Amino acid sequence: MSLFSITYQIHGTSKNTLISSDSLNDIIQDQSNIVFITDEMVMSHHSAFFSDKKNIVIPYGEKNKNLETLNILLEKFLNLKLGRGHRIVGVGGGMITDLTGFAASIYKRGVRFGFVPTTLTAMVDASIGGKNGINIGDVKNIVGTVSQPEFIHIQTQFLQSLPKSMWSDGFAEIIKHALIGNEVLCNDLLASRIEDYSSDEIRLEKLIFDNISQKVKLVERDPFDTGIRNSLNLGHTLGHALEKKLNLTHGQAVAIGMNFASWLSTKTSTLKYNEYEIILQLLSRYNLPLYQEFDLDAVFESLLNDKKKQDENIRFVLLENIGKSVIHNIDTTSLKSYISTWKNLQS
Ligand SMILES: NC(=O)c1ccc[n+]([C@@H]2O[C@H](COP(=O)([O-])OP(=O)(O)OC[C@H]3O[C@@H](n4cnc5c(N)ncnc54)[C@H](O)[C@@H]3O)[C@@H](O)[C@H]2O)c1
Repeated sequence: MSLFSITYQIHGTSKNTLISSDSLNDIIQDQSNIVFITDEMVMSHHSAFFSDKKNIVIPYGEKNKNLETLNILLEKFLNLKLGRGHRIVGVGGGMITDLTGFAASIYKRGVRFGFVPTTLTAMVDASIGGKNGINIGDVKNIVGTVSQPEFIHIQTQFLQSLPKSMWSDGFAEIIKHALIGNEVLCNDLLASRIEDYSSDEIRLEKLIFDNISQKVKLVERDPFDTGIRNSLNLGHTLGHALEKKLNLTHGQAVAIGMNFASWLSTKTSTLKYNEYEIILQLLSRYNLPLYQEFDLDAVFESLLNDKKKQDENIRFVLLENIGKSVIHNIDTTSLKSYISTWKNLQS
C-alpha cells in the first residue's frame, strides 16, 4: 500500500487531508480546474504522472526559490486565467511546495492549493504546517505566508527515484523530530539504517505517518509559530545561515546546525555530554555531515537576519535531554562566542 489518509484540524476546521487515491482522482478528474506545478527534475523522473494534465514546469533547485520564479508563476497564472474556482497543486520537494503555497496564497489574495510531495523531506516536513515562502538573496524563507493547503497527497512510489543523499536529507528532519519530542523514534533510528526503512514499505509508511502526526500536533497547538512550534527550528538558526553561504542542501545544513545546538545544550541546558555523542552518532549513521568549515563573520551576519531574532536576543532551540526540547533567549554576542568556541573544537 502506498497511499494513506489522515485529517487534522487547525483552528477548529478541518484544513488538511492526506487523501486517498480515490479522492485525488475525484479532484484531478476535473482537469479544467486544476494546474500542476513541478520542476524539471521531477518531471524527468515522473513524466507519466503529468501526462494529460495542465502543467507549469520550472527549473529545479533551491536557487530558484526566489522572486524571479515567483513572478514567472504569477504571470503564468494570469495567462491561464486562473481564478478562485481553480486548484493549484505543487508536485515536488520542499522547494516546490514552499513556492507553490506562497504563489497560491497571494495570487488573487488566495486560491485553493494542495501538495503531492515527492521527497522524504517534503513528505515528513516541508508540505506540512502551512508555512511557505521564498528566499531573498542569502536569506532563507524571509518572505512568505502561513496558509494551509487544502490537501496533501502522499505517494511513496515517488521516493523510488530519490538519490541516496536525498534520503539522508529527509532523515535530518526525522532526527530533528526524534530529538525534540520522540525518544522512541530516536531509539528506533539508532538501531536502524536508511535501507531498513527504504526497503520496507510498511516501516517507511509508519515512519512518514508518525513524523507527520508529530508535526501536525505542534502545528495545531501553534499554527502561527509564536510558541511551542518554535521547537521545530532545532538546528535551523545556524543551519539556514550555513545552507546559503556554503551551498549545502537543507538537510546537510540542519544536521550541522543540530550538532551545534546539541553541543550548546550541554553548556547552557541540561543535555549530558554522552547524549551529545549519541546525537553525533545518529547523524553520522544517516550519512549526514557534522561540520563544514565556514567564515564566522559572514555566516553570523546572515544568521542575524533570522526571523527568530528579537532585539539583541535570538530564540534558540536547545535540548534538555534526547526527546525534550527547550527554548532559551540567547543574546547575539554570547551566541557568536559560543559558535566560535564550538567551531574551534570541530577541526
Ligand atoms: N515549509 C516548511 O515547513 C519547510 C520545512 C522543511 C524544509 N523546507 C524547505 O524545503 C526545501 C528542501 O526540500 P527538499 O530537500 O525536498 O529539496 P528540493 O525541493 O530542492 O528537492 C531537491 C532535488 O530533488 C529533486 N527531486 C524532487 N523529488 C524527486 C524525486 N522523487 N526523485 C528524484 N529527484 C527529486 C528536485 O528536483 C531537486 O533537484 C528547502 O527550500 C527548505 O527551506 C520547508
